[in-house]
Amino acid sequence: MTKIGVVVGSLRKESYARKWSVALAELFPADVEVEFLEIGNLPLYNEEYDENSPSEYTEFRNAVSAQDAIIFATPEYNRSTSGVLKNAIDVASRPWGQSVWAGKPALILGHSISNISGANAVQSLRPTLAFLDMPVLAQPEVYLANSQNYFDEDGKLNNEETRGFLQTVADAFIAHIEKTLNN
Ligand code: FNR
Repeated sequence: MTKIGVVVGSLRKESYARKWSVALAELFPADVEVEFLEIGNLPLYNEEYDENSPSEYTEFRNAVSAQDAIIFATPEYNRSTSGVLKNAIDVASRPWGQSVWAGKPALILGHSISNISGANAVQSLRPTLAFLDMPVLAQPEVYLANSQNYFDEDGKLNNEETRGFLQTVADAFIAHIEKTLNN
C-alpha cells in the first residue's frame, strides 16, 4: 500500500485545485491510498510555537509524516503559490531539524483560470521543495489552464483528453515514488 497525501492550496469549497486533485486521485492504482491533508485550520506559522506547538500543528505534522509521497495542488495567486499552502509547508518544516517533508517524493500540480495555468505558482514552489529535500517529479509538468472549462456541474472532469493527460501524470508519479523510495 502506497500512501499519497494531497495538500490543496486553496480553501475555497469549489476550488478547482481540489477538483483537479480529486480527478487525479481517481486514476491511481487500487493499492494507492490517497488522503487529503487539510490545512485551513492551521494557525499562521509563528516560530515561538516551536517550543509548544498548537495541536493543529502536531496533527498536521503527524498526518504528513504518515505519507509515502505528497501532491501539492496549487492555484496561482499573484504569480506565486498561495499563502495558505506556504504556511502549511512552513508549519511541517519546523522545528528546525524535524521537518516531516524530507525525502518524500512530490508532485506539484499547478492550475489557474487563465492561460497562465499556474506555471508561476509551480515554479515558486520548486526551490522550497528542493531545500526541503523533496524529490519533485520533473516530467510531465502539470500546468492546467482555464480550469473553469473542465468541470461539469457536479464537479466532475468533463474532458477525456485531459483525463488521459492526468493518467500519464499518475503513472509517472507512481514510477517516481517507487524509484525514489527503493533507492
Ligand atoms: C488569482 N488568480 C490568478 N490567476 C492567474 O492565472 N494568475 C495569477 O497571478 C492570479 N492571481 C490571483 C490572486 C488572488 C489573490 C486570487 C484570489 C486569484 C485567479 C485564480 O486562478 C482563480 O481564482 C482560481 O480559481 C483560484 O484557484 P482555486 O481556488 O479555484 O483552486
